[in-house]
Amino acid sequence: MKKISALFLSLSFLSVSLLSVSAMAAEEVYSPTKKVKVEFFLTDAGQPAYRTYANNHVVIKDSLLGFKLDDGSAIATGLAEVSAKRSASNQTWEQPWGEEHFIKNAYSQLSVALQETAGLKRRLNIVFRVYDDGVGFRYEFPKQANLGNFEITDELTQFNIAEESSAWWTPALAGEQYEYLYRNTNVNKMGLVHTPVTLKTASGLYLSLHEAALHNYSTMNLQSGAADGKITAALVPLTKTTPVKVKLKTPAVTPWRTLQIGKSAGDLITNYLILNLNEPNKLGDVSWVKPAKYVGIWWEMHLDKTTWATGPRHGATTENTKKYIDFAAKYGFSGVLVEGWNEGWDGEWWKNGDKFNFTTPTPDYDINELSRYGKEKGIYIIGHHETGAGVDNYERQLEGAYQFLEDHGMKAVKTGYVESGEMLTNGFYHHGQRFVEHQQKVIDMAVKHHVALVAHETVKDTGERRTYPNIISREVARGQEYNAWSKDGGNPPNHLPTIPFTRLLAGPMDYTPGVFQLALPSRPQNQVNATLANQLALYVVIYSPVQMACDLPENYEKHLDAFQFIRDVTTDWETTRVLEGEIGQYVTIARKQRNGNNWFVGGITNEYARATTINFSFLDAGKSYKARIYKDAKDAHYLTNPEAYEIEERVVTAKDHINVNLAPGGGFAVSLLEVK
Ligand code: NOJ
Ligand code: CA
Repeated sequence: MKKISALFLSLSFLSVSLLSVSAMAAEEVYSPTKKVKVEFFLTDAGQPAYRTYANNHVVIKDSLLGFKLDDGSAIATGLAEVSAKRSASNQTWEQPWGEEHFIKNAYSQLSVALQETAGLKRRLNIVFRVYDDGVGFRYEFPKQANLGNFEITDELTQFNIAEESSAWWTPALAGEQYEYLYRNTNVNKMGLVHTPVTLKTASGLYLSLHEAALHNYSTMNLQSGAADGKITAALVPLTKTTPVKVKLKTPAVTPWRTLQIGKSAGDLITNYLILNLNEPNKLGDVSWVKPAKYVGIWWEMHLDKTTWATGPRHGATTENTKKYIDFAAKYGFSGVLVEGWNEGWDGEWWKNGDKFNFTTPTPDYDINELSRYGKEKGIYIIGHHETGAGVDNYERQLEGAYQFLEDHGMKAVKTGYVESGEMLTNGFYHHGQRFVEHQQKVIDMAVKHHVALVAHETVKDTGERRTYPNIISREVARGQEYNAWSKDGGNPPNHLPTIPFTRLLAGPMDYTPGVFQLALPSRPQNQVNATLANQLALYVVIYSPVQMACDLPENYEKHLDAFQFIRDVTTDWETTRVLEGEIGQYVTIARKQRNGNNWFVGGITNEYARATTINFSFLDAGKSYKARIYKDAKDAHYLTNPEAYEIEERVVTAKDHINVNLAPGGGFAVSLLEVK
């Protein structure tokens, strides 16, 4: 048996070997149970390269590694292996909050030290971590006499996909940061795209390419198209006028380049490789970072009922905020987000990057009275820092801005970097190294003042929440806001069953679900392309430790029976199970509450109706649960009858199942509260 598979391996190796490889043997490294293998080798030209196998099938064919530098040299060819060190790790670590309480981190590691054989004899290490469900590798530049400060113009890393594959992606550097609908094409047709990018191979494997631990480096986009399956790293430049992508000083490391592998689409959702490749929590006790549900003065501005700007329709008034605080207190929320509370919003606010002031409230917003009032009712105000991508302006005010939050008991802040065209107001690229450094400065300042961060229009998530658990959620995709005003008709129903398999593989998302009035009287050209039951399901389907109930209080008060689900659902989980799912079609997820025995299930579909059966075998054996099933009514339809729902109640155990019909653009949510 062993001989046959060895023969198979060498045959498949021959069939995919594109590069001219020296006689030197490859360094092989297998994952703990040998499901995944990486082969590292040097080409005839002395360039590092690798391939990856899953269950003995080539997934990544011969792919080159290395760098070009601004001085015209390259650390790429002419390298020789100095040493190869192997190690292994098998640990389980605890998340302070999360979608899974305990995460297993088991991998085999190969660390190869390379050195140029001539010239400057510069040194470069490449470290591979091979998991049973994927691979991470990164470059290390050790401290050395002939490489001190240096500038990278190109990272040459390739991820050459062995099989014909279908890809789900969003375009990079195309003017809207990360806020796109996903496109689905052959992998060769992607062009320049963001990560994570999700692939389905001809043989049915699901892959995700991304990066982990993005610190002091620029974002990696991917470029496809040169040849079959060929994908190359494309770092975001610093500015438009320089070829330089990254400035480093030895010793330095790059982020991890990652490949996640699943047999089903759902496997990708419960793959924790990105988190595992980040450093453990550096903050110690983070009990001040609290998962929460919140409401806020937000949707009403997107609906154009009130404005961010001052004037007769200003939303962030003392009186209006008190109304939201009362609502939050009455229904068990923790926070109230208030946007448009500060100086800087008048005029075309998205161009006010250098005008926003983060310590000066508008005259009609009495922050001292509101923090007193909120405290009395057990509610904190969530701060809002819209920067208009003016990071220099924000950084100048950073200390004062976070002191202000702390002084007013604001335990969380939402940041925003709206711009148009991929550039910060200071001329740096939004997703380049300068912004990555900025985001870290903000995280550090928030730590100093014990503030949790929810970042919109920031750089993509690469798992930093493991190291800095105060960066709790990000937007970084097309969120609910597009349903209110986008000229292309909002987010079509297939957007929602796409993002759990794409954007959400990066980390939690502040989608801001929960619209109950789906036709929008103040925005007759737009509507939310979902049913009410679909909106409920999102509290389970879209993971975020902070979840907004974004609709207006009066719309919830019209449907208090359905609102009960939002009141009951938690945002902090013991464990997560993906029950079924296909990218862009449907997904059903069950999650068990942390510190409790209740379970919650959410399922959604695209524009097609769907019938499904939920088997409750995931429930704890021997326990009974009161199931409340919130589902689309028979005649519900996201376009014509979105608010038609039914609620059914029954007692269930792990032996039961239910059949549910989902309307076009529909969904269902189930709360399973333990019967004691
Ligand atoms: C874009 C954010 O995504 C949205 O949530 C916010 O309301 C506006 N910017 C204004 O800051
Ligand atoms: Ca946004």
